[in-house]
Amino acid sequence: MILFFYFSLIFIFLAILIYFIYFIHIVAMSICGLPSDQQMRQSLIKIVTHYIGQRRHFIDLGCGQGHVCLAIKKEFSQLTVIGLEKSFWQLLFARFKTKLLKQKIRFIKTNFLKYDLSKTEIIYMYLRPPILKKLEQKLIDELPSGAILISNTFCLPYRQPQEIITTQQVKFNKQVKFFIYLF
Ligand SMILES: C[S@@+](CC[C@H](N)C(=O)[O-])C[C@H]1O[C@@H](n2cnc3c(N)ncnc32)[C@H](O)[C@@H]1O
Repeated sequence: MILFFYFSLIFIFLAILIYFIYFIHIVAMSICGLPSDQQMRQSLIKIVTHYIGQRRHFIDLGCGQGHVCLAIKKEFSQLTVIGLEKSFWQLLFARFKTKLLKQKIRFIKTNFLKYDLSKTEIIYMYLRPPILKKLEQKLIDELPSGAILISNTFCLPYRQPQEIITTQQVKFNKQVKFFIYLF
């Protein structure tokens, strides 16, 4: 009888925990807006494979829940991968998943407009145009020569991309563009 009581308690506790995690996940997703999907990440991996060369330092500007960082680290273990994110909840998930998958990724809670990018060799972002306007001059001032920037969907307002890669999203039947800039 006592054993049954304890099992019921554990069961109720686990159910509440799962519900809580799910709730946080929904809140985090709604704050993020538009995280990349799996097909976008696969396209990104192809682009990085093409451009990686001797580059060893990858940053995701606004990494959300860290899906891109995880996919990149899994594919290119030689890269130092850093995710910059301002949202506490997004980072909580990113760190939790990274621990679970035993990956070595640094997630930093910061406003990327204040972060020093001078050592970054591969930079990825999936950000809306208003923030790109603020970011463009910082990228020009700080990125080292030879760095590449991959921007998902939205382009920088003034700088001309080196290449534009268009991919077909089978799931949503739409095209997605990646803008690639060489510094
Ligand atoms: C559209 S999500 C992209 C997530 C991820 N990079 C991907 O491709 O799946 C953009 C993320 O940028 C973060 N973000 C926006 N402005 C930021 C800033 N100034 N500093 C840090 N993070 C920022 C948002 O919180 C959001 O999680």
